[in-house]
Amino acid sequence: MKKIVLNTYEELCLAAADVFSQQIKEKPDSVLGLATGGTPIGLYDELVRRHEAGELDFSKVRSFNLDEYYPIQRTHPQSYEYFMRKHLFDRVNIAKYSVLNGETDNPAVECKRYDEEIAAEGGIDLQLLGIGHNGHIAFIEPGSSYPMDTLLIDLAESSINANSRFFGADEVQPVRALSMGVGQIFRCKKIIMLIVGADKKDIAAKLFDGKIHADVPASLLLLHPDFTVFMDKAAAGQ
Ligand code: F6R
Repeated sequence: MKKIVLNTYEELCLAAADVFSQQIKEKPDSVLGLATGGTPIGLYDELVRRHEAGELDFSKVRSFNLDEYYPIQRTHPQSYEYFMRKHLFDRVNIAKYSVLNGETDNPAVECKRYDEEIAAEGGIDLQLLGIGHNGHIAFIEPGSSYPMDTLLIDLAESSINANSRFFGADEVQPVRALSMGVGQIFRCKKIIMLIVGADKKDIAAKLFDGKIHADVPASLLLLHPDFTVFMDKAAAGQ
């Protein structure tokens, strides 16, 4: 595991964008694994800027997102598909993107289909992750065991609370989600995680205490051979 501390969120987004740029330049038909949430918005803006400046071509890039609320209409402003279109997909020339279908009647079939689609595309080359205050990655919540494959998950109370900021008073917030499992994330060739803000200081410190914590899913990533964490000074407790 590598840890890189940047002074500001802006610097962190530039550093993470460099990883994506290098990946796409070295392998134009890369398969990217993408995340939603507040943290990666600046990174996506920077990727769009580089694309508009003619520096970055997504025309052969394919992508898979980590998770999606369930149930949710893909056109709902809080769906992760809507989020990704707004922040990235509709702003670059990406060849193909896949987001789990929150409209499905059969989550088990949809999860299996998603894992098969990722395998058929040759697996994910570069995976972007954030981290929840409770140590979740994707929507793999702390528990006594962890799923290997993509599945339907009950969100933890703390995750529902953390994400309630995105929902209006008149909007129903889903309490379940479809999410990649640990096995899918571990099969990614390279993983980068972004940790931003003083409110993530405690969970970041736990990630770096050199132990795998049974109740911190993110700490399993310490076992991955190519895992880099980018954090700002606030998250690093500096
Ligand atoms: C989102 C995802 C989540 C977020 C995490 C942090 O696709 O997989 O694990 O990365 O909840 O969210 P933010 O960035 O909003 O703090």
